[in-house]
Amino acid sequence: MTSRPFDVSQIRRDFPSLDQHIHGQPLVYLDSAATSQKPRQVIESISRYYSGANANVHRGSHSLTTTATNQFEAARETVAEFLGAPKNSIVWSRGATEALNLIAQSYGRHILKPGDEILVSEMEHHANIVPWQLVAEQTGAKVVKWPVDPDSCQLDMAQLDALLNSNTKLVCVCHVSNVTGTLNYSGNR
Ligand SMILES: Cc1ncc(COP(=O)(O)O)c(C=O)c1O
Repeated sequence: MTSRPFDVSQIRRDFPSLDQHIHGQPLVYLDSAATSQKPRQVIESISRYYSGANANVHRGSHSLTTTATNQFEAARETVAEFLGAPKNSIVWSRGATEALNLIAQSYGRHILKPGDEILVSEMEHHANIVPWQLVAEQTGAKVVKWPVDPDSCQLDMAQLDALLNSNTKLVCVCHVSNVTGTLNYSGNR
């Protein structure tokens, strides 16, 4: 028997927006990649922030800016710990498109040169395709497609060895596909 890592109904109860019926049915929401629903803990935290500490972060000297800055930096620490990453590597962005363009135009544009390859999986949203096409055009690098097996909707691991070579500088792949629901993680099970 497989054990569930978390209790889905408990998590659902944390989301006030899911506690409603649409067309007579309990709401099921599948558009999280575009706009995620917010759990009560986040709603309350945002409300506490605007009720008490709302001020310029890193751009003021009064006490509210100190509180806001401390909270802003504490959030960076929490995220770094969650990801197991150094705190100074956490950069806030407004969303996937902005973040990926930022990586492509800073890191990508800095390291890529003509003949380099950017391997992009076939199951990516265009937010993880277009930034690589643009930086490829700008640097002379090439976007190479990593195919998806049409029967299993899994990334074709058998082709990976052939696709990776000394010209490959970046591999771009989502954790979960919003089209097929495929989970890409170690072992690709
Ligand atoms: C699966 C998926 N990935 C990425 C994006 C882009 O996200 P963002 O709006 O954060 O740029 C979207 C937006 O709809 C999406 O649905």
